[in-house]
Amino acid sequence: MRDVLEELDERRSEARLGGGETRIAAQHERGKLTARERIEALLDEGSFEEFDMFVTHRGTDFGMADKRYYGDGVVTGWGTVNGRTVFVFAKDFTVFGGSLSEAHAEKIQKVQDMALRNRAPIIGLYDAGGARIQEGVAALGGYAEVFQRNVLASGVIPQISVIMGPCAGGDVYSPAMTDFIFMVRDTSYMFVTGPDVVKTVTNETVTSEELGGARVHTTKSSIADGAYDNDLEALLQMRRLIDLLPQSNTGALPEIECFQSVKQDDPSLDTLVPKNANTPYDARELIEKTADEGDFFEIQAAFAQNIVVGLGRMEGRTVGFVANQPMVLAGVLDSDASRKAARFVRFCDCFSIPIVTFVDVPGFLPGTAQEQGGLIKHGAKLLFAYGEATVPKVTVITRKAFGGAYDVMASKHLRGDINYAWPTAQIAVMGAKGAVEIIFRKDVGDADRIAEHTKMYEDRFLSPFVAAERGYIDEVIMPRSTRRRVARGLRMLRGKELENPWKKHDNIPL
Ligand code: HXC
Repeated sequence: MRDVLEELDERRSEARLGGGETRIAAQHERGKLTARERIEALLDEGSFEEFDMFVTHRGTDFGMADKRYYGDGVVTGWGTVNGRTVFVFAKDFTVFGGSLSEAHAEKIQKVQDMALRNRAPIIGLYDAGGARIQEGVAALGGYAEVFQRNVLASGVIPQISVIMGPCAGGDVYSPAMTDFIFMVRDTSYMFVTGPDVVKTVTNETVTSEELGGARVHTTKSSIADGAYDNDLEALLQMRRLIDLLPQSNTGALPEIECFQSVKQDDPSLDTLVPKNANTPYDARELIEKTADEGDFFEIQAAFAQNIVVGLGRMEGRTVGFVANQPMVLAGVLDSDASRKAARFVRFCDCFSIPIVTFVDVPGFLPGTAQEQGGLIKHGAKLLFAYGEATVPKVTVITRKAFGGAYDVMASKHLRGDINYAWPTAQIAVMGAKGAVEIIFRKDVGDADRIAEHTKMYEDRFLSPFVAAERGYIDEVIMPRSTRRRVARGLRMLRGKELENPWKKHDNIPL
């Protein structure tokens, strides 16, 4: 019996070495952890249960018959994050560069199936060179099986991808279909085709970093939702994110103890909005002063910074925050901001996370670049997302809510449940200057008359009261009471029931 047990131990030790000590050392030299070290950092200590440790590939071409490593380049299984079950797979770069064979793909499919069946989040850690070149078409089939499972799990269980090394070719599309992608700065990159192919096809000379590094994907392409300085930080932040997420679309919202009373008003909010309507203030400050303990997990912080989105908690329960950011482009809605917020709103709605929206928006961004770039379609995405969302929606207009952007930003008319305004709110078709120049065109040039008309317009329309008279605003609230009012509203809305008409799926303008 002892021999049998020893053999198991030996096999396990061999499997845990992946591609061997030299390759592990090379991984460390690049500042990267190994697949198993990453899983250890992500999960609660000692909670990892590994599956398929002894799987090897079945390839025989190109001398592969005698090149087999236990695990075949991916470590899979499940464990817990602060006690809650999550499934995980981590590409092992030390084995054939983490490349995907048929057997490797089957290991991933198994945990995808288990995560979906057991309604628990799944996290993929990427560090891989794409399809196993020696296997050819079997690898392609394997990828498509993984992709199909991503699609079916979308909106049912949270799916998170962390890119911690190369992620090229077939490896990019599975992350692209998950809810979030995070990257590690300097060591990770993501692209469909690498610099060599780019050079051959387009004659462009480009580095991996320029083509698909964390900076590109967090600031330009918006493929990535955030980036961290190293593996450990990324994995610790993933633990923080998982804590905020429900297990599935039918799972309860996670609830933790809240240490900050919602009854305490914050007088500093009374002076957050500057007297001059064109002077910016930081929407993040408003979110942090509303969320429990100022804890805010921002998504896509470096992209379309004119809108801020992310997760926090109110009275211990997860809430999605969306806020126009007056510090960037005066908080205007453009195509990028609309797409960014639309995806976030839809994420929250999938997983029954209530949405709190702070509005200070001068309108949609005018210009040929925006119009030719599809502003109508992209703006419609956000409108659509808010309009279809059935989760509790609490909106607070702090200052400007002009034109179509007023409608879009979780207005009463898009089934906003509670719509508050601060006394500084200005709800109107447009700002005073633009309005007066159109209505009183014949007086343009007569400064006194224009000033008079402007004053009249401002007095009549640039306040929350015209909208409040119509019931578009449920109440004008003191800024200092925002946290309390929003929290009470969300508490009341815990039992909300609202269903859209049956449909196969909608046809959101993509
Ligand atoms: C088999 C691979 C591999 C692959 C890497 N390796 N990629 N083996 N299939 N796709 C192996 C290498 O041979 C090497 O083995 C080890 O992994 C480490 O690779 P290095 O090249 O030494 O590492 P590095 O210099 O860091 O470069 C990493 C890399 C590079 C950028 C990922 O390996 C690379 O370009 N790989 C090929 C990428 C690619 O073209 N993949 C196919 C994409 S097509 P040894 O034994 O020497 O340690 C695709 C289509 C699917 O994915 C589409 C589905 C939709």
